[in-house]
Amino acid sequence: MSSNIVWHEHHVTREERSTQKNQKPCVLWFTGLSGSGKSTVANAVESLLLEKQRHSYILDGDNVRHGLNKGLGFSDEDRVENIRRIGEVSKLFADAGLIVLTAFISPFKADRDLVRALLDDNEFIEIYVEAPLDVCEERDPKGLYKKARAGEIKNFTGIGSRYEEPESPELVVNTAKQSVEECAIQVVNFLQSKGFLA
Ligand code: ADX
Repeated sequence: MSSNIVWHEHHVTREERSTQKNQKPCVLWFTGLSGSGKSTVANAVESLLLEKQRHSYILDGDNVRHGLNKGLGFSDEDRVENIRRIGEVSKLFADAGLIVLTAFISPFKADRDLVRALLDDNEFIEIYVEAPLDVCEERDPKGLYKKARAGEIKNFTGIGSRYEEPESPELVVNTAKQSVEECAIQVVNFLQSKGFLA
């Protein structure tokens, strides 16, 4: 990194941006196995937020890997870099005053903790989207578990690559036991109770 780069303070402050939007910015970090329902729940939460006239944006694994993170694969090293970049982008979006929702497997605890450390206190809300592997495998929305079992994808999360469950997430939603709507309401209630939508 060049040593000749200095941080430039903006004239409009972070507080002014979030006050304008009538919300406290935060990052709702959905983590869980492929097929656990991260994107589905995040989308349902975003619809509820829109109804409440809140400002949000979803960063999603499948989409971000087409652009910003095109070229990153699924080795441990690439997954670490994937999450590091998403963490930095999330921080910028939160600085812009948005409620950011991210839907990445983000299988490694250390990487999720790094993102937590990047953000201000209480701004990182880790949401474990829990669903047993056999349920995800049964859903197999993209047919990838089948391919992984057939040996066509070597390091698939849950099969050839590990998923480290969150130890103390702010929230757990269980898509095997609750409906998508129930999960989404649980998340929005949390935001309300913690004053993010005040
Ligand atoms: S992460 O591990 O780096 O956080 P990310 O959420 O970006 O993963 O991407 C996961 C998505 O990529 C999965 O939902 C699936 O559609 C696809 N995918 C392709 N190969 C793999 C793999 N080896 N392991 C997990 N997901 C994979």
